[in-house]
Amino acid sequence: MSTSALRPAATEPPEGSSETDLFSKFDALIETREQLLSTGLTDPFGLVMEEVVSPTVAICNGRKTILLGTYNYMGMTFDPDVIAAGKKALDEFGSGTTGSRVLNGTYVGHKAVEDALKDFYAMDHAMVFSTGYQANLGIISTMAGKDDYIILDIDSHASIYDGCALGNAQIVPFRHNDIDALEKRLKRLPPEAGKLVVLEGVYSMLGDIAPLKEMVAVCKAAGAMVLVDEAHSMGFIGEHGRGVAEAQGVIDDVDFIIGTFSKSVGTVGGFCVSNHPKFEILRLVCRPYVFTASLPPSVVATAATSIRKLMHGKAKRDHLWENSKKLHAGLKALGFTLGTDEPQSAIIAVIMPDLERGAAMWEALLHEGLYVNLARPPATPAGMTLLRCSLCAEHSSEQVDEILGMFEAAGRATGCIN
Ligand SMILES: Cc1ncc(COP(=O)(O)O)c(C=O)c1O
Repeated sequence: MSTSALRPAATEPPEGSSETDLFSKFDALIETREQLLSTGLTDPFGLVMEEVVSPTVAICNGRKTILLGTYNYMGMTFDPDVIAAGKKALDEFGSGTTGSRVLNGTYVGHKAVEDALKDFYAMDHAMVFSTGYQANLGIISTMAGKDDYIILDIDSHASIYDGCALGNAQIVPFRHNDIDALEKRLKRLPPEAGKLVVLEGVYSMLGDIAPLKEMVAVCKAAGAMVLVDEAHSMGFIGEHGRGVAEAQGVIDDVDFIIGTFSKSVGTVGGFCVSNHPKFEILRLVCRPYVFTASLPPSVVATAATSIRKLMHGKAKRDHLWENSKKLHAGLKALGFTLGTDEPQSAIIAVIMPDLERGAAMWEALLHEGLYVNLARPPATPAGMTLLRCSLCAEHSSEQVDEILGMFEAAGRATGCIN
């Protein structure tokens, strides 16, 4: 028995103690959560999938549920070739590498997935991280050091902010998707200073895309390097699925593209691709790459197979656009307020009046047999509560009709629409 098992449970600091409860900073959040759950609401952040039937259907709380809140945009998680590659690698190389990429953690599979990425993006270099979060953490903190500047969209993903926090550069935020604000910020910085502008192709909360064509031009005129996180566009947007930078014709001017395997690729992992001739040195100096174990062989094998199949994913991309347009038009016609006037990506965000009604609507949809993501501040911009719908290329047109029927029923039951 461990000695800690003999100690009384320490719920309160002992009397007279001056110990500060470090949890007290979460009191407001604990109270909001308790208030919400005391109404009998199912915990929107505690859903368990008991069985996953396909990329678009799971069993939750014993019932068949259509999945409209995953990032499985291209539906690769059940692709037979992807699964076969993973099983083979598991048999041949074991369950894990137990080491860093720079020590014992580079197998042929890690090189093969980096080759697949270089081919997919037609770029010279690719570096695979254990998650997309770590890719942003690593590249941003390593590239922008003391005396450099990071200029970033205020609605950037948490991993971008955390990458900034890990480094020592000065942070200069600008208003979301505002080209003039970006240009003004850049002009105020010392011309000789190192500058890294960090943008996203698709912003995942509202599903809107960045005006990369104009922004990249502004960055280049100011002598800044540009990093674009294409986490939510890879596989889907652009002629070859390379993302918004490809779709807007500026991919050759982007210095770093960050991406993830946890969305269109259908597994887990992250990466950075680049044409910079000195890129490979990052393998020795990027701490979130060096000081962590590499991805398991089965994961890199599934990723490599998936990425190579995504190169020929035009039919899936076309169908996903059809789904996105159909859902957007249908929700708008029902009277919901959406994050964008037109569908811009595979994410359609439904704006809720407040957290209470957002949570009620989320639960009503779940009872109808539909799972969407409930998103709330601080993850969302401007304090919004959102029901984020992310479509999959494997959703059939009939499923989208079914989804619209569920939104109509839940919307009327909760008073979100008339
Ligand atoms: C824009 C963006 N970048 C990076 C990530 C991190 O990706 P990963 O799930 O691979 O850590 C996410 C995940 O949601 C994201 O939305």
